[in-house]
Amino acid sequence: MRKIGVLTSGGDAPGMNAAIRAVVRYGISVGLEVYGIERGYKGLIGGAIKRMDNRSVSGIIQRGGTVLKTDRCPEFKELKYQKRAIDVLNAFGIEGLIVIGGDGSFRGVKDLKNNFQYPGIGIPGTIDNDLGYTNYTLGFDTACNTVLWAINNLRDTMTSHDRVCIIEVMGRKCGDIAIFSGLAGGAEILLVPEVEVDLEKTSKKILQNEIKGKKSDIIILSEGVCDAEVLKEELEKRTGLSIRTVKLGHIQRGGMPTMADRVLGSRFAVKAVDLLKQDKGARAVGIKNNKIIDVDIEEALAAPRELSKSLYNLVISLSN
Ligand code: ADP
Ligand code: F6P
Repeated sequence: MRKIGVLTSGGDAPGMNAAIRAVVRYGISVGLEVYGIERGYKGLIGGAIKRMDNRSVSGIIQRGGTVLKTDRCPEFKELKYQKRAIDVLNAFGIEGLIVIGGDGSFRGVKDLKNNFQYPGIGIPGTIDNDLGYTNYTLGFDTACNTVLWAINNLRDTMTSHDRVCIIEVMGRKCGDIAIFSGLAGGAEILLVPEVEVDLEKTSKKILQNEIKGKKSDIIILSEGVCDAEVLKEELEKRTGLSIRTVKLGHIQRGGMPTMADRVLGSRFAVKAVDLLKQDKGARAVGIKNNKIIDVDIEEALAAPRELSKSLYNLVISLSN
């Protein structure tokens, strides 16, 4: 293989730039030509492709977001558009593709392999940490640290007023952002999609905390459970308290990537380039017990996402 392409797809995640930089610089160092594809599969179909060199990735390792831009491209699920993408890749002579994104983006890699025998490698880039085959996805650590910053600030004001505050965090159907930031931020109550919510129990805990002298609670709510405003209404009805809500939203997706995400992005990228160099395709890279791994893309997509049960229990047991 002589020419490879790289794109970012789906929601951006801090650390994507570190991965792009490493794909380009490592790829060139092992004799490849590297092409950057803009705006994910949309740019691929539209031929928005440019040759990258070492200088085109200067000064980006510390930046959140993605310099290649990203997009969602629902039409890529259709064979017709996948065929168009293959035609574009062939026209540029690009023989292998690195896709940085979440499970949706990985399905594109799988389709290119199954329908056209085209080799693609998936790098897990999403703040959600919702891919079961890898311990961590790129961007998760930075997002959790951003949530922690918010918890710290909110705790100052909530404690001063003896208030209860619901902080809604992202993660789709995965509770990891809530669990990890809840543990590190000392959350009093943690609500995640993987565990059924008991409103009576939650209200009782808030009232019991008050009796115990804990007059201010931080409730970390995963977006996959319900909207913060809905929860607020239910809890206010049951406790008689006036509760505040903060929806962190896209703030969690931006910002300077942490050291962990820059290192992870660089390590993922090197593995992805090595796989293409060895003419391997339809694989996903990941990290298990601090070792960079690669698995079949179908296996990556099928791996069950398990709740970090011990960490979840730890948050609960330390919240008394
Ligand atoms: P993420 O990659 O973060 O999970 P999405 O689920 O939005 O984000 O998927 C990103 C893009 O991946 C989609 O907009 C689409 O272009 C592509 N994609 C998603 N599902 C499929 C699929 N089943 N087949 C082919 N491509 C897909
Ligand atoms: O997958 C990343 C993510 O930020 C989720 O946590 C969130 O549910 C979703 O994307 C938000 O998507 P959008 O950028 O389309 O609002």
